[in-house]
Amino acid sequence: MSDTQKPAMAPDPTPIVRLSTAFWESQVLLTANRLRVFDFLADGAKSVDEVAAGLQLAPRSTGLLLRACTGLGFLLENGQRFENAPVAATFLVSRSPAFMGNVIRYSDQLYGAWGNLEGAVRSGQPAVPAQTYLGDDPARTRAFVVAMHERALGIARALVPMLDLSGRRTLLDVGGGPGTYSVLLTERFPGLRAEVIELPGVAAVARELVSTAGASERVVLRDGDYHSADFGSGKDVVLMSGMFHRETAQACRALIARAAACLNPGGLLVVSDVFTDEGGCQPAFAALFGLNMMLTAADGGVHADADVMQWMADCGMRELRCMPLPPPMPHRVVLGVKP
Ligand SMILES: C[S@@+](CC[C@H](N)C(=O)[O-])C[C@H]1O[C@@H](n2cnc3c(N)ncnc32)[C@H](O)[C@@H]1O
Repeated sequence: MSDTQKPAMAPDPTPIVRLSTAFWESQVLLTANRLRVFDFLADGAKSVDEVAAGLQLAPRSTGLLLRACTGLGFLLENGQRFENAPVAATFLVSRSPAFMGNVIRYSDQLYGAWGNLEGAVRSGQPAVPAQTYLGDDPARTRAFVVAMHERALGIARALVPMLDLSGRRTLLDVGGGPGTYSVLLTERFPGLRAEVIELPGVAAVARELVSTAGASERVVLRDGDYHSADFGSGKDVVLMSGMFHRETAQACRALIARAAACLNPGGLLVVSDVFTDEGGCQPAFAALFGLNMMLTAADGGVHADADVMQWMADCGMRELRCMPLPPPMPHRVVLGVKP
């Protein structure tokens, strides 16, 4: 039989079955994290009744939840007693240095917004106004900044060793959020001082985190709107991390132009974010991330790394490079040097 005569492969419905219930899995993780199940099991195995009594839950449903957590690989079951699997002990127990529970809480807070995806696609309006978590609601703002901090600590493990800032003295961290990268970069490169431009409500929480890290001498938080704040001059490095996904292409171009203008000759522009390939559809995580940002910011979306490189080239930046961070970090880093 020639190739043209072969029957076409029947389409496979597996992804449809899988994705139509994928939110079950998300909700098991989010709920177990919210109920602090993993913290409760941090000191050893417990029975369903012990977990239910300790966390004030209904025993029968607790048993079903614990078994689902076990099926997903977060718990281990042995003789009707449950304990944390290594992945939960490392990332889901709050005393662990690699704890990710606050990042997961932030996803949890967006579960309702995703439930209104249809409304946002119809109206073009975000389901959650960005001001809510960028200053207006103090509790949500704090939760957002702490989640950004936890996420940045994870990403920084890959990003910071990629950047050689030896000999650089001034870093401008635009929309620097919790200031985590500024803290870690100034720690790694003695002599480097950082200025973080942030919205006032976020900057207030960031000041606390920077102070707790003992870095207030070398990292200064400046209240400001990065669309209008003076970027100054004589900078050796400008970092723009995780903020292009909230901005239009036009706004990103303007930010790059102002970053280029404030850099010294030889200065480095670092743009780190979730980016798609050309065309905007792959990786799928990045395309989904664009929806997540659409749901949570007026101009939220996702850009292609090739576009960012073009915008940098248009502003006269040279030696352009794009580097992916290793999995599971979905970020890519675009670097450019001012001639
Ligand atoms: C996703 S967070 C990234 C934070 C940090 N750069 C990082 O990568 O961890 C985006 C940050 O941009 C800040 N931001 C958004 N709009 C801003 C504006 N107009 N002026 C200053 N900061 C802004 C937010 O407050 C938030 O901290």
